[in-house]
Amino acid sequence: MSAVDADRLRSSLARALGDSKVLVGEDLVHGYAGDESEQEPVLPDVVVLASDRDDVVATLRIASELGAPVTPRGAGTGKSGGCVPVCGGVALAMVGMAQIKEIDPKEQLAVVEPGLVLAELHAAVEAEGLFYPPDPNSLKMCVLGGNIAENAGGPRAFKYGVTRDYVLGLEVVTAEGTPLFVGRRTKKGVTGYDVTALLVGSEGTLAVTTACTLRLVRKPDAVATLLGLFANIDTAMRAVADIVGGTTKGRGLVPRCLEVMDETCVAALRDEGFGVDARAGALLILEVDGDAIEVERAMEEVGSRAIDAGAADVLAAQDEAQRGRLWDARRQFSLVTRKLARSKISEDVVVPRTMLASFVGQVRAISERHQVRMLTYGHAGDGNMHVNLLWDDPADEPRVELALLELFHAVIAMRGTLTGEHGIGTSKAQYLALEQSSELIGLQRRIKDSFDPKGILNPGKIFPRTGHGSC
Ligand code: LAC
Ligand code: ZN
Repeated sequence: MSAVDADRLRSSLARALGDSKVLVGEDLVHGYAGDESEQEPVLPDVVVLASDRDDVVATLRIASELGAPVTPRGAGTGKSGGCVPVCGGVALAMVGMAQIKEIDPKEQLAVVEPGLVLAELHAAVEAEGLFYPPDPNSLKMCVLGGNIAENAGGPRAFKYGVTRDYVLGLEVVTAEGTPLFVGRRTKKGVTGYDVTALLVGSEGTLAVTTACTLRLVRKPDAVATLLGLFANIDTAMRAVADIVGGTTKGRGLVPRCLEVMDETCVAALRDEGFGVDARAGALLILEVDGDAIEVERAMEEVGSRAIDAGAADVLAAQDEAQRGRLWDARRQFSLVTRKLARSKISEDVVVPRTMLASFVGQVRAISERHQVRMLTYGHAGDGNMHVNLLWDDPADEPRVELALLELFHAVIAMRGTLTGEHGIGTSKAQYLALEQSSELIGLQRRIKDSFDPKGILNPGKIFPRTGHGSC
């Protein structure tokens, strides 16, 4: 935005919302510039601290009139640049809207505001005997609005599905500042297009969420967590294939989580002081839930399937404290692995589960061919793998880019998909056409135009940055 336009924007917002909700100046806005991806932070021209829906309506009306970009923002834990205000304009901070408006145990739903921290939702519904399954690893910091924008997943998605599967309805404000309720509160319903499903995962490009109606399920009575020790990731992947796909001994099983860590990840954990069993080259975390009898049986079945597939051992967490430590180690992965090199790209591609063993072989070959260090961990149960590329010297970047491109080509050739939970954002916009036809991208651009005719909502995201929507 030009300096004059930015000044007009700031003064119009301050007039409508009051000075306390409008932040200007580098010192105050720099906390709203970045996220947890490799996308360079970009300072917004102004930050609006929304405390209710009226603030959002006023902000969007003003921005729409002035043609100013608006980038909605949750806790900034995203991993694809989704909340980075790459075109400047307004960073619309939603964390001030964090109320739980309703938990209805009989209807099994909750209505919450978008700034609510996910772990707080988990605790509140679990106190009522209910369960909200999505559990991205940032759950102690991330907020529901960001989860909805990116259609977040997490380890439990293997059994329970992702955020979209739990959003019944949304209260949103359109780019032009019109409040709308989309979706429903009932268990079933097929009225009109499924606009709710479209908005979940639209990365803040179609509308701004001001409240969400979430579907809940019954909290499982019991949970057990197992740690499978494997010589290497290849054996671990074969175990995953046998557990989810079945063997001559029995049908496929559905633990609620099936997480893998390769040799580099395990070594990094050891370096961080986590006491990983010496027999482990690679690890699987297997978690089962249900009633006490089901859990007992599932532990047996999953454990023996892992042993049959070549696990050196399968250890069961003995109590909640041990379970907690295991998950803490897993949840710190993104941070632990960041220490391994000056620069890191973390991907979240998905491949068919039957291709996982071949996939890790291809990752190894790409790493060797381009001499780029790579590590892999992730949600093996649903084929969603966090392949990380690591490098220290900026001169290596061309090789890293080639390796990344080859990785994406390999994934698409396996009929996989570019992103399983982090979104396209800015990080993968230039690769969208590897997976989707120009006709499909064109159709999505037209959908974007009809929601946001002036192209002010989170410009520069999802679509390759040429023509409309760029800045
Ligand atoms: C995880 C994040 C990177 O699974 O999605 O740790
Ligand atoms: Zn993940």
